[in-house]
Order: sequence, then structure tokens, then C-alpha cells
Amino acid sequence: MSTPLNDWAGPLREQINALLMEPFEDASPGRLGEACQYPIQTGGKRIRPLFTLAAHQSLGGEISRQTLLAACAVEMVHGYSLVHDDLPAMDDDDERRGKPTVHKIYGEDGGVLVGDAMLTEAFALLGQLPDTQCAVLVRELALAAGHRGMIGGQAWDVGMGGPIKDVEMLRALHRGKTGALIRCAVRFGAITGGADDGQLQALTRYGEAVGLAFQLADDVLDEAQDAGSDGPPSFVRLLGVDETRRQADALLQQALDALRAVPSPQTLEALARFTVNRDH
Ligand code: IPE
Ligand code: IPE
Ligand code: MG
Repeated sequence: MSTPLNDWAGPLREQINALLMEPFEDASPGRLGEACQYPIQTGGKRIRPLFTLAAHQSLGGEISRQTLLAACAVEMVHGYSLVHDDLPAMDDDDERRGKPTVHKIYGEDGGVLVGDAMLTEAFALLGQLPDTQCAVLVRELALAAGHRGMIGGQAWDVGMGGPIKDVEMLRALHRGKTGALIRCAVRFGAITGGADDGQLQALTRYGEAVGLAFQLADDVLDEAQDAGSDGPPSFVRLLGVDETRRQADALLQQALDALRAVPSPQTLEALARFTVNRDH
């Protein structure tokens, strides 16, 4: 469907996909390269790199290769997190994006190695940036991906912190598991776009609100799948579907309010609305 957001995102997704595939073209052995490219080819919304590019543009800048590299570094970490998340030791899923998961095709050992290669490659992409920007972004991504961010959230998710007893604990879990990378993606665009302190703070607030809203929307979409599953409760189970939707809308409003700090907020606005109202 042609919408302003789709028209903007379509050509950028193609550039993102090409850049994600590139590093694995000459991998040795060839089957490792093929295995690393497989989950990239299965698609995905690419919402994290799009957040980076939209945040960059919200400050008036043109998208350069450097911004695309930063955007793809976040998506590479996201891609790896899904490959490992699907492994038998984690969620043991046979399908992702309607296709067999990586370990179903390349074995469990292959799945571990593909995830390792993607995570490592994320930092090689950032290594192509100019020194001062590279140092800042490497630290940001490492903090967002590791135990202070996504992995911390995954650890709560698998029960390493004990049971999730209330909605505040669940929010903290998802601020790490899903929120940290989305926040990082937005901040990457803010930093490459030359945000001043106030704009960086405002875009960070946007990223945090949208990151949590993403998970609330996800739980509404997955409503049917939650019943009886292992792991933490969903927001829908704790709050009910109406209250989960209401909180997602409130977060959307917070995100939109934060955009008053930037000169060209339209695409970030559209991405925030898509995040909350999406159907996949
Ligand atoms: C799915 O993320 C996993 C979560 C973090 C909840 P996305 O919904 O962004 O997945 P893709 O990349 O579009 O498939
Ligand atoms: C996906 O989380 C992995 C990360 C967010 C790191 P989930 O297990 O909740 O999502 P799906 O159902 O596998 O996409
Ligand atoms: Mg999973």
C-alpha cells in the first residue's frame, strides 16, 4: 500500500538490506556466509534502522553512508538476537517470519555461530565510521546490546531474575529486552544528525516511549499466543487488552510531544504511529 511512510521506507529498506548482506559475501567457509545471509533475506520490518534514519533526517540532515552503517549496526544486533532467541536452549522456535529458523536449516551449532558473527559484524560496521563518532556509537551499542540492555532483559525473560510479579517489573524487563535497542537506534540518528543536548534528550525520550510502546503493541498482537506459555506474563495478561492499548496510546502521545524539539518530525511521527498501530 502506498502511504507517505511506505514510500519513504521502501527504497531505504533496499539500501539497508544490501548493506546487511555485503559483509557476509566473501565469508569462509561459504556455507557460513550463506547461513548469515539467510536470516537477513527472510525479511523483517527493519524498524530499528528506519528509526535511525528518520531521527537523522528529523534534524535536517541528508542520509549518508555513515548513517546507514550506524543504522545497520543496530539491525545486525537485532538480527543476531532473534537467531539466538529462537535456538532450542532459548525459545526453541521452528519458524521466524514465516520461514524455518536458522538452526532448523544450519543446525544448532550453525545458529550459535551465525548469531556470533552478526553481533561481531555490527561493531565492524561501526568501525567504518570516523574515529570520534565510532567511539561514541560503539559504546552506545555495546551498552544497549549487553547486560545493561537487551541481554539483561532476556535474562529476566528466561527467569534468571525470578518471577515477574507485577507490571513495573515487566516494564523493566522490556525496557531492556526490546526498548534498549530501539532507544539506541533513535540516538544513533540523533548523534549522526548532529543533535544538540536538548534535541538528544528529547529524541532519547521519544526512543524510550516508542520502545516500550512497541512491546505493548506486540503483546496486543500476540494476545492469542500468550495463554499458557512459559516465561513472563504479557502486558495483556497483567493489564487486559483495553488498558494495554490505552498505555500504548499514552506512550505514543509522549513520543509525539518529545518531537517538538526537532525541526522535521514528520517521519518520526509516522514511525511512532506505525509502531503502536501496526498489524505485524
Ligand atoms: C520482534 O521484533 C522481536 C521483538 C523484539 C519483540 P520485530 O517485530 O522488530 O521483528 P522483525 O525484525 O520485524 O521481524
Ligand atoms: C525476541 O523476543 C528476542 C528479543 C527481543 C531479544 P520474544 O521471544 O519475546 O519475541 P519472538 O516471539 O521470539 O519474536
Ligand atoms: Mg522468542
